Amino acid sequence: MTDNRKTVLSGIQPTGHIHLGNYFGAVQNWVNLQDVYRCFYMVVDYHAMTMPYDVKKLRNSTWELIYNLLAIGVKPESLFIQSLVPEHTELCWIFNCFCSHGNLSRMTQFKDKSQQSKESSKEDFISVGIFDYPVLQAADILIYKADAVPVGKDQEQHLELSRTIAQRFNNQVGKEYFVLPETLFTETPKILSTADPSKKMSKSAGEKHYISCFADEARIRKQIKSAVTDTGEATEGMSPGVENLFMLLNGSAKVNGNQSHLDAAAKMLKDHEQGILKYSELKAHTADAIVELTNGFKKKKDELLQDKRAVKDQIKASSAAIRKVAQETVKEVKELTGLLNVKY
Ligand code: AMP
Ligand code: TRP
Repeated sequence: MTDNRKTVLSGIQPTGHIHLGNYFGAVQNWVNLQDVYRCFYMVVDYHAMTMPYDVKKLRNSTWELIYNLLAIGVKPESLFIQSLVPEHTELCWIFNCFCSHGNLSRMTQFKDKSQQSKESSKEDFISVGIFDYPVLQAADILIYKADAVPVGKDQEQHLELSRTIAQRFNNQVGKEYFVLPETLFTETPKILSTADPSKKMSKSAGEKHYISCFADEARIRKQIKSAVTDTGEATEGMSPGVENLFMLLNGSAKVNGNQSHLDAAAKMLKDHEQGILKYSELKAHTADAIVELTNGFKKKKDELLQDKRAVKDQIKASSAAIRKVAQETVKEVKELTGLLNVKY
């Protein structure tokens, strides 16, 4: 049976908590797209090794992220673990030879992370892995011939590079073999840190700069209560901090299907236009909506944790099934690039 659905692929690193930026920027789309497209979603543990990390913690973090993604609504048959499909690294090597050093040196993530790497490890260590990171990402995407990649705004440059690599490969082998993948954004592709709205919400910036999807209620309420609204600088229209709270409120209320929160947001928007919005009111509604959303995630996670073995078996099985697709691509790529294809 041929499958005419378009293919969607995305990945997330097992490096700590999954937060509302991940959710509203990308993972919410992963969940929504599942009913329409052929979807491949992965926990990218190979990518998580590119920065200094704790070898004792990686495997647990990978499973923890699997439970979290399933609790948020990703289906087990779409979900797999990158290192269980080693063909990604094989294709990465081949792509290394189709990608210029200059292109990789211009990646902003490489510049930022190599700076962080220097600051966090005493020995001033920058791995070749962090430099090569976007080539592995291109392999992740192209190996499934993905048409669309749901990610947050910060991944735009990496997607552009994936298209460059695909194009160079196609030109060199003289065949339109790889599909050029498109980036797919949500309505909220960039969620800001509530503690400092001049930065994006992110785990690497420190604890107060992200709100975990599995944080306890008291912590969520505290973080929203202390959210920075206006910095005192004169801004035209709405300040980024206030806009961010509206995004979190509306986004959560839509998922919860909570009309009273949506009505309250519409009313507060009018209040803001008239200059009479009380930030305490906006924060109270935003905290309620986020708590309602995340309570659903936590409940589902508790259920999953009842039988960890069953979850692990399911994900190993889906990884094995998905691996077959990747193996087929690598076979074709070897054929096209002049490498040997031998059955042992
Ligand atoms: P990471 O946590 O860096 O592995 O990111 C996983 C996904 O979440 C990627 O698609 C990112 O683009 C997205 N993402 C991370 N932080 C944010 C943010 N603050 N706003 C929107 N999307 C984000
Ligand atoms: N680089 C992505 C991030 O930091 C994670 C990632 C790895 C990814 N491989 C991917 C995203 C393939 C989309 C497609 O968020």
